[in-house]
This record gives sequence, structure tokens and C-alpha cells, in this order.
Amino acid sequence: MDIKEAIVNRRSVKHYDPDHVMTEAEIEELMQHAILSPTAFNIQHWRFVQVADKEKRQQIQDASWGQKQVTEASLVLILCADLNAWEKQPERYWAQAPEEVQGFMLPAIANYYTNHHQGQRDECFRSSSLAAMNIMLMAKGMGYDSCPMDGFDFDKVASIINLPHDHIITMMITIGKKKEDARPRSGQLPLNEVFFKDSF
Ligand SMILES: Cc1cc2nc3c(=O)[nH]c(=O)nc-3n(C[C@H](O)[C@H](O)[C@H](O)COP(=O)(O)O)c2cc1C
Repeated sequence: MDIKEAIVNRRSVKHYDPDHVMTEAEIEELMQHAILSPTAFNIQHWRFVQVADKEKRQQIQDASWGQKQVTEASLVLILCADLNAWEKQPERYWAQAPEEVQGFMLPAIANYYTNHHQGQRDECFRSSSLAAMNIMLMAKGMGYDSCPMDGFDFDKVASIINLPHDHIITMMITIGKKKEDARPRSGQLPLNEVFFKDSF
């Protein structure tokens, strides 16, 4: 599937075949491509929790106002991010770069994020949203459908997955074999309402 086809055909699917099993190899392939998504300063602060345990799935469905895709999907991912990844051995993020690049980047990371709490949090949403799109398009290319979700109680899901105190949840994604098509697109705004040249 080419990129254009994946973009056009990706829809938020709410009904999956509950009996379909995604292989470990498929999950690995999907996630290896998720982590190729870009992050500022290459801090790679996204964290992905696969919820495989049936009981936890049910608890998360209950915390998602009963949305069935949570238990019917072949794969449920909770997208999280580490707010403090920027200061946790940042030399790892530039380990293969030339020394002069490391010498520039490491102080730049500290300079950008230190005491910049809003920026640290915004970065989590930027990065995990980019990873989410990689995941959903990659899934489409692999013959799967997906649904991004934020219709759940974030605090309850945080407690179910034992979220570390300095991480946040950004969204959830369900992935599986479609049992029912998405409804026709509900109405796209015309391009000229959302796309501007030079200024608003
Ligand atoms: C951040 C985000 C959260 C969403 N949360 C939910 C959700 O909780 N449940 C759901 O059924 N769909 C959810 N959606 C799917 C949207 O309803 C859907 O993307 C939108 O209607 C456009 O349809 P499409 O994705 O099929 O193009 C969410 C989408 C996004 C981007």
C-alpha cells in the first residue's frame, strides 16, 4: 500500500473481530516503525504500553464508558510519554552522532527544557501524536484498522497500567481486523477554511 492510499483509507474503526490474534512478529514490526517517528532533540520520550491482560482490558473498557473496541481489538496501546526523559542520560539520544554534534546537542537539550514545564508537557503530546500517526498508517499498510481514543478516564487508566509519576498518558489506540466499516466521513471542512498562506 502506498502512503496516499493508507492516508485516504485510514478511518477510525470501532468494531473488530474479537477472535483475531495479531502475531508477536506483527506487533514487533508495527512498534519498530512506531519508534522511527521524530522527536525534538531525538529524546524519544514516547512510551507505549500494550494491554494484553484480559482483565485489564475489561477495566479499561469500563473506564472508557464501555467502548467495545477496547476489548474487541487485537492490540490496545496506551500512548504515554516521560516528561523528564530530556534529563535522563540524554547522551543516549546522540550516542552515534559525531562528538561535535553531541557537544552542541546535550547543552541545547538542557537549555531548552530546564524549568520549561509547559514545553516539556507539550512536547509529549507532539511526539506521541506523531508516533500515533505512524502506528495507524503502518497498521493500515499491514492490513489492520485502528482507532485513536481519548474517550476514557485518564486517571483510572493511569492506575491500571501503573503509570510512573513523571509520565503522562496522551491517548489510546486500538488496532484490529475490521468487522464493520467506519461510517462515511462525517464532513471535511473545505481546504480554504483551514489552509492559509503567510498569515491568517
Ligand atoms: C485524539 C482523538 C481521540 C478520539 N477519541 C475517540 C474515542 O474515544 N472513541 C471513538 O470512537 N473515536 C475517537 N476518535 C475518533 C474520531 O471520532 C475520528 O478520528 C473522527 O471522527 C474522524 O474520523 P476518521 O478518523 O475515521 O477519519 C478520536 C480521534 C482522535 C484524533
